[in-house]
Amino acid sequence: MASLANLLVSLLLIATFSFSFAPIRCYVNRADVRVQHGANNKSAHHTYIVLVKPPPSPSPSNVDEDTYQNWYESFLPKSRGGDSGKSRIVHSYTEVFSGFAASLTDRELNALAKSPGFVRAFRDQTRHLMTTYTPKFLGLRNGTELWSNTGYGKGVIIGLLDSGIYAEHPSFDGENIAPPPARWKGSCKATRCNNKLIGAQSFIEDDDDPSDQQGHGTHTSSTAAGNFVVDASYHGMGAGTASGVAPGAHIAMYKVCADGDCDDSAIVAGIDAAIKDGVDVLSLSLGHIGSLRFDEDPVAISTFRAISKGIVVVCTGGNEGPDSHSVSNDAPWLLTVGASSVDRSFDIDVSLSNGKSIHGEGLSQVAKPRSKMHPLLYSQERGKCDYMGNHVVSEKIVVCESDTTHENIDDIMSAGAAGVVLLNYESYGYTIALEEYNSSVAQVSANDGAVLRAYATSRSSPTGAIFSYHNTSLGVHPAPVVASFSSRGPSIAIPGVLKPDILAPGLNILAAWPPETDSIPGPFNIMSGTSMAAPHVSGVAALIKSLHPGWSPAAIKSAILTTADAVNSTGGSILDEDHKKADAYAKGAGHVNPARAADPGLVYDLGVVDYAGYICWLHGDQGLATVVHDSRLSCAKLPKVADVQLNYPTITVPLKPTTFAVNRTVTNVGPPASTYTVKLDVPKSLNVHVTPNKLVFSKAGEKRTFTVSVSGRGVVHGQGHVEGSLSWVSAKHVVRSPIVAVPNLPESPPPLEKKGLGLGVNV
Ligand SMILES: *[C@@H]1O[C@H](CO)[C@@H](O)[C@H](O)[C@H]1NC(C)=O
Ligand SMILES: *[C@@H]1O[C@H](CO)[C@@H](O)[C@H](O)[C@H]1NC(C)=O
Ligand SMILES: *[C@@H]1O[C@H](CO)[C@@H](O)[C@H](O)[C@H]1NC(C)=O
Ligand SMILES: *[C@@H]1O[C@H](CO)[C@@H](O)[C@H](O)[C@H]1NC(C)=O
Ligand SMILES: *[C@@H]1O[C@H](CO)[C@@H](O)[C@H](O)[C@H]1NC(C)=O
Ligand SMILES: *[C@@H]1O[C@H](CO)[C@@H](O)[C@H](O)[C@H]1NC(C)=O
Repeated sequence: MASLANLLVSLLLIATFSFSFAPIRCYVNRADVRVQHGANNKSAHHTYIVLVKPPPSPSPSNVDEDTYQNWYESFLPKSRGGDSGKSRIVHSYTEVFSGFAASLTDRELNALAKSPGFVRAFRDQTRHLMTTYTPKFLGLRNGTELWSNTGYGKGVIIGLLDSGIYAEHPSFDGENIAPPPARWKGSCKATRCNNKLIGAQSFIEDDDDPSDQQGHGTHTSSTAAGNFVVDASYHGMGAGTASGVAPGAHIAMYKVCADGDCDDSAIVAGIDAAIKDGVDVLSLSLGHIGSLRFDEDPVAISTFRAISKGIVVVCTGGNEGPDSHSVSNDAPWLLTVGASSVDRSFDIDVSLSNGKSIHGEGLSQVAKPRSKMHPLLYSQERGKCDYMGNHVVSEKIVVCESDTTHENIDDIMSAGAAGVVLLNYESYGYTIALEEYNSSVAQVSANDGAVLRAYATSRSSPTGAIFSYHNTSLGVHPAPVVASFSSRGPSIAIPGVLKPDILAPGLNILAAWPPETDSIPGPFNIMSGTSMAAPHVSGVAALIKSLHPGWSPAAIKSAILTTADAVNSTGGSILDEDHKKADAYAKGAGHVNPARAADPGLVYDLGVVDYAGYICWLHGDQGLATVVHDSRLSCAKLPKVADVQLNYPTITVPLKPTTFAVNRTVTNVGPPASTYTVKLDVPKSLNVHVTPNKLVFSKAGEKRTFTVSVSGRGVVHGQGHVEGSLSWVSAKHVVRSPIVAVPNLPESPPPLEKKGLGLGVNV
């Protein structure tokens, strides 16, 4: 449990909001790559993902499963006595690349690496789950054009790679959902399959059961595409109608995580199956900590194949914020999502005897608050609230520091305390990721906590406090606010592309939950994390795909990015966890706006050949063979495309006194005859010229290229990055791209260390 990163679930409640009192014990973990024990033991077995050339075949485009299997087996040592003839192959891959996962010793791996046909091997690594929001906050409600125009995402299949799914949940009812499209080839091994849940398979070794023992996959699935659930409620609270962002879309669950761990070999197997099955959108609420070299990351390689088949891949940006350079899942073909708050809170204010009131929040709301003032207790020595005797805490409101354990809080409450005020970590700022406590606990931000601590320790007068419970508040200001845990750019692997791409709701999100899982009764639970943010964007991608089935993954991404909200609903800046203006590395292009994303006007498109040119620039032919593995392409014949020159819908350039130019090409997906003029919003310190500054289109699908030249005025050493934006504006559309000018932006590929996970067997 402790190894789960923020699992946040959002159940999207429409009409009225229900909410649950579910814990997020698995909140923001700095989960690390599992330490490989026995790394030096030549006879120890490890699972490796082995990439090989395609099987030699007279008709390479038509190779059957047996041919693959025999080819893969030919790389492995013949089974000996103990092996009882069982294949060493754990997973066979055919779609993402030719290759397999197998358990091998170092010696065997080294032998295998000498076989003709071997390409590369990676030692299996473990990733972790990371956790929705209300469609209403995103402007989606019954009667909304986008929902009615798309049939709520009708005919689109969202595949999720996650911890499995609780199929019986009402969110996965098949009522009013059309049958899946004929191209669907997947299988459903869940206890209930229907037109909503059309696929469920497990890729966990020795476990065929796609059910969800963790709750995470159930939460993310319902957030992306849960059906309408009328009278959804938790413990009789907040009855309302719940739904996902694309309630009409189909769900396919690829179970690749168990006990919070998701092995690369299983993730790749899940992606392989999803491509074969015919999903439209892939949603990954899991990740690695930080950047990996793309040519050493089996998940980046597999997702590249997915996007080249037209599948939109949406990923969590990670829960390692607010540290900079912490964003993960940062490949340019991925849609990388950060987490922000929604305008809803569950307030428990702490009113002090001096008349002041401190803002707190909590899931332990009570209907009839006690009306008595209780003495406030804070002990500097006992900040973590351990070893406090019954007589000390009885009838008191006890103030505890952020790192107090659930056990200590339970002990205090059992000892007769009236309540607990739990102070937040300093680095969380105003972000309060709610956790389930079995008692009256008010969670208070570090800033408000400082006031409370000072008051509790003041000697001048007796101190007392009382909790006032406000149940659910809506219309909370400011919102959205970037959540403290949301990972920040710049990306280490690709500093010339802005990551994360976008923000979506990921703080205190209510969504479906299996019964009695992780001490939460269900059927709904509140969770926080970028894990909760990604499936919102997967749902939006599904709605766009439903309207525009022919759009490429990059075009769909562009539509979502260029229409994102740069400001909040009252026109103020989107703030960060400290309530300071959030920078581009926290918010990407801004906050997702589904209705506008469906009609962007222009898109910045990218295809396999463009990415291939980038891979050539980054890692050369060897990288091309590993990531793109298309024998028709070679770096000698491709233009080398620097990260900043990718036709990305956001613009990153070096900040320097001399002019630096990037080109971008836009495709008209709006009215055939449209005229756009450029609008720049940049600080005085930035000189930006756009040529031409007017784009005239006469047809749908027409492309126009423009050049953006940027130089910094009075650039000083040690200066931070400078931000602005470029918008193409027509009568009906605003197509906005943030511009980020970065001092010392590397103009050659970043020297990311080779991790050598393949034990030097890179060919
Ligand atoms: C090496 O691994 C083998 C097989 O897993 C095990 O039997 C052996 O005890 C290990 N040796 C050391 C020194 O760890
Ligand atoms: C919205 O429409 C769906 C589908 O027609 C229906 O199931 C749901 O109950 C409606 N919700 C509300 C709040 O009216
Ligand atoms: C909170 O409000 C909901 C909806 O109005 C209500 O059903 C529920 O009982 C309230 N909860 C408490 C603890 O007051
Ligand atoms: C909640 O606390 C009460 C008393 O402290 C205890 O009896 C009960 O078992 C606890 N419930 C849970 C779910 O921990
Ligand atoms: C919008 O942001 C400003 C600060 O940038 C804040 O004062 C205001 O309350 C916010 N409005 C909403 C609706 O959150
Ligand atoms: C950008 O476009 C201009 C005009 O077509 C061209 O001269 C220049 O080489 C292009 N720059 C890059 C980096 O492709």
